[in-house]
Amino acid sequence: MSLTAHNHVPLPSFMYGTAWKKENTARLVRLAVESGFRAIDTANQLIHYHEAHVGAALQALAREGITRDALFLQTKFTSVNGQGGQTPYDASADLATQVTQSFESSLAHLHTDYVDSYVLHGPYQRRGLGNADWEVWGAIEGLYDSGKAKIIGISNVTAEQLTLLCAKARQKPMVVQNRCYAALGWDKEVREVCKAHDIVYQGFSLLTANVEVLGHPHIRAVAQRLGAGVAQVIFRFAMGIGMLPLTGTTNQQRMKEDLQAEQLPLSAEDIQRIETIAL
Ligand SMILES: NC(=O)c1ccc[n+]([C@@H]2O[C@H](COP(=O)([O-])OP(=O)(O)OC[C@H]3O[C@@H](n4cnc5c(N)ncnc54)[C@H](OP(=O)(O)O)[C@@H]3O)[C@@H](O)[C@H]2O)c1
Repeated sequence: MSLTAHNHVPLPSFMYGTAWKKENTARLVRLAVESGFRAIDTANQLIHYHEAHVGAALQALAREGITRDALFLQTKFTSVNGQGGQTPYDASADLATQVTQSFESSLAHLHTDYVDSYVLHGPYQRRGLGNADWEVWGAIEGLYDSGKAKIIGISNVTAEQLTLLCAKARQKPMVVQNRCYAALGWDKEVREVCKAHDIVYQGFSLLTANVEVLGHPHIRAVAQRLGAGVAQVIFRFAMGIGMLPLTGTTNQQRMKEDLQAEQLPLSAEDIQRIETIAL
């Protein structure tokens, strides 16, 4: 299953997420890539991610022959209010400077001169978009123009905010990354805006945000019929509706199983049924 951004940049079909890995970050990124993942998601946000440890893993992988160009790297700009007091930029600088400094720091952490995808971690306000959001998005557009961010996107966004951004931005986002709740039709409203604007939707916490659904008799029956795990069914379903799923497992066996999910022969009927399972 291949995905392509609206600016024709190819995306992977599955991504390994590095949140909350702490001092195990480098080891787990190596393990994920050695297990077959080729896309890594991180953020320049020390309270949840160790971006520099991702970079250390990339250096080790390069020594094993898995070089930068074989990998898809995605990182994020996190505003001061999401940083827990430690910012990878001068927090008293204007917002455009904060973005530039954060981005340069990400490049240094990751030992690269470009990222495949650069994401605004979230708007500054819950509803609508304010001046701060436009200023930051403008700076992110500048990074895209420079060629140092091949794709740009936004995370933790509502359908209303995404519609606004698409209507008024000079450069529309190419990706959206959201927590994906089955109870919201797997973030149906946001996915529909994505579909209308040819934006690739990345879903995170597909397992942890949907614990009840994992035990649903229909999902269990599909898993049993296919001789697969419930998590595999969820990830394959996500791909089946055009989503790019993230997994955050710390277990190598589960990394491999998650990757194998892509091969599961889920029927169109299974996909349709799972899409509305918690509504
Ligand atoms: N943009 C944002 O604001 C944001 C917020 C949150 C997350 N994210 C991104 O999304 C990534 C994934 O998020 P997540 O960790 O919540 O994802 P997740 O894949 O829903 O959850 C991972 C958890 O589920 C467990 N698990 C059990 N069976 C599993 C299986 N077969 N495959 C995978 N996990 C299994 C894992 O335990 P084991 O480790 O024991 O397997 C782990 O505790 C993060 O690392 C981050 O990159 C982004």
